Amino acid sequence: MKIILNKNKLKKLIQNEKNLGFVPTMGAIHIGHLSLVKKCISECDKSIVSIFINKPQFNKKNDYEKYPRTLKKDILILKKLRINYLYLPSKNQIYPSGQNKDIKISSLEKKLCGKSRPGHFKAVVDVIDRFIKIIQPKKIYFGEKDMQQLKIIYHFVKKNHKDTKVIACKTVREKNGVACSSRNLLLSLEQKVIASKVYKLLKSKKQNLVKSKSALIEIKKKIYKLGANKIEYIQILDINKLIKPQIKNNKYKIFIAYYLGKTRLIDNI
Ligand code: PAJ
Repeated sequence: MKIILNKNKLKKLIQNEKNLGFVPTMGAIHIGHLSLVKKCISECDKSIVSIFINKPQFNKKNDYEKYPRTLKKDILILKKLRINYLYLPSKNQIYPSGQNKDIKISSLEKKLCGKSRPGHFKAVVDVIDRFIKIIQPKKIYFGEKDMQQLKIIYHFVKKNHKDTKVIACKTVREKNGVACSSRNLLLSLEQKVIASKVYKLLKSKKQNLVKSKSALIEIKKKIYKLGANKIEYIQILDINKLIKPQIKNNKYKIFIAYYLGKTRLIDNI
């Protein structure tokens, strides 16, 4: 595994790669990330992973500062998986002259997380656009755990990077049902138990929730009772258009964002 910090050095190294797979991450690597990396390795001739905590996509300074950083451990884990390249760029390498605030992205950005995190998805797409221009991967891997992010990036890449294909990967969960996330490192044991109960509750009530509005109100009350500090949203939506679903086609999920203490968790079930 070659570790590369410099953009031009990386470009030179990979210029002849014809079937390169790319997994962008913000580090604090967990088994969710690893499922993307394993799929990438199995589908592509060469694999590259990036670790870059993209400051512009954080809405709160405190959230950026608290974001888990476990670089040494991450390097060891990725080495074991035998990826070919690990790209660790600095902020200046990615943003030599600041953000691209004019970037055009799907109107899906206005829903769900976009409401409470203005500019978040533009910043995510901006950084992915920059990575694709540097790396020019054949395939780029994203998790369904962040479904809204995945859909927005899918539309952007389809329109703007015709040689790159977005590959969606299933959500990986811990044994207790909680979706793996770097932010889980910020949870206490007690909060992990609550997160698990919230997941199990939503899973068991999914059918009811689709049928009645009052069930949604009831479930919110129950989630607060379990110990959530704030529910930002809980909605049942079609997974592709993020609109009111057609129950018949079964392509809907419960989307939730909520806080345990100061930690914000999202999931779709
Ligand atoms: P990060 O949260 O590190 O996630 C990197 C990738 O791993 C994303 O595509 C995310 O959806 C996926 N992922 C995270 N948890 C997962 C799980 N439990 N199961 C399956 N996949 C999972 O998402 C980001 O970073 C950033 O926004 C990024 C795309 C790197 C842009 O900065």
